[in-house]
Amino acid sequence: MTQELRITRPDDWHLHLRDGDMLRAVLPETARHFGRAIIMPNLVPPVVTGAQAAAYRDRILAALPEGMTFEPLMTLYLTEDTDPEDVAAAHAAGLVKAVKLYPAGATTNSQSGVRDFDKVRPVLEKMAEIGLTLCTHGEVTDHAIDIFDREAVFIDRVLDPIRRATPGLRVVMEHITTRNAADYVRSQDRDLGATITTHHLIINRNHILAGGIKPHYYCLPVAKREEHRIALRQAATSGDARFFIGTDSAPHTDANKLLPCGCAGCFTATNTMALLAHVFEEDGALDKLEGFACKHGPAFYRLPENQDQITLVKQAEPVIFPEKIDTKDGPVTVFDPGFAVHWTVA
Ligand code: DOR
Ligand code: ZN
Repeated sequence: MTQELRITRPDDWHLHLRDGDMLRAVLPETARHFGRAIIMPNLVPPVVTGAQAAAYRDRILAALPEGMTFEPLMTLYLTEDTDPEDVAAAHAAGLVKAVKLYPAGATTNSQSGVRDFDKVRPVLEKMAEIGLTLCTHGEVTDHAIDIFDREAVFIDRVLDPIRRATPGLRVVMEHITTRNAADYVRSQDRDLGATITTHHLIINRNHILAGGIKPHYYCLPVAKREEHRIALRQAATSGDARFFIGTDSAPHTDANKLLPCGCAGCFTATNTMALLAHVFEEDGALDKLEGFACKHGPAFYRLPENQDQITLVKQAEPVIFPEKIDTKDGPVTVFDPGFAVHWTVA
């Protein structure tokens, strides 16, 4: 007995593709199902200027296997030295769709990020003027703040003041992990959206820490208590257009994940659409999946929806996903939801 669900081709509104051999290995995992993705700029060195974004876009397109189509939507990495005019030119050329704010030290390759938010005020004002989206990694880096509270404190101390000081600035709160963030999005009436990852709909902090430490579930922002996971599920499956998929699929080799100080990131590009179908069906919301994965994102970014479709198929037997993706740098473990999945993309 099979069940089929045909939906508009989805897009991924937050994706890490890296560069070089890693890029070549992981890009097909996304391009197989997704039409476009917002490409994170946290390379080493980061993608700071329009010229760097153009060169990175060309490397992504060159890495795309023959016969696959995929549109990378480029972003710039905001630094205290970012030139508002360079940002405006990259936007006017249609090259970049967002600027990414990393508080310095918050996550992987964020050392070049922002320490003093006043220093980026001219860039934010220019972005509000031209309608360019700011994507935020929403965590404070203050060591006095507990890591499980860093997102909620970021909203109060950084995000809300920035939005009040910069009317018209369009913001996507990336990879939200708390009820606080979902509530904040709903409390605002304009210019604010949020991405939610696949893995944050599935794991809570017990998955990382109970019964032995599970490095493959460690990502940033770190998964929170169960009540927050439930709040994210409610936001994602509610049909509210302010919430949309951004997988934050973030490949690290197993060697780098399993170090004494392992890297943050879950690699979900391979099985995200199957897992989302499972999650939405479990919550009795399969009819809301197309909005979350295919329609709300383009609407926020003021882009057309994809014109083609994909078909999700539910089969009687559990689907076997690859455990790892081989790369020239070493294997990358695919996110394991910890339950049987019967959905697949035809
Ligand atoms: O888990 C994460 N991995 N969170 C981030 O913010 C960065 C990402 C990465 O680049 O590996
Ligand atoms: Zn990310």
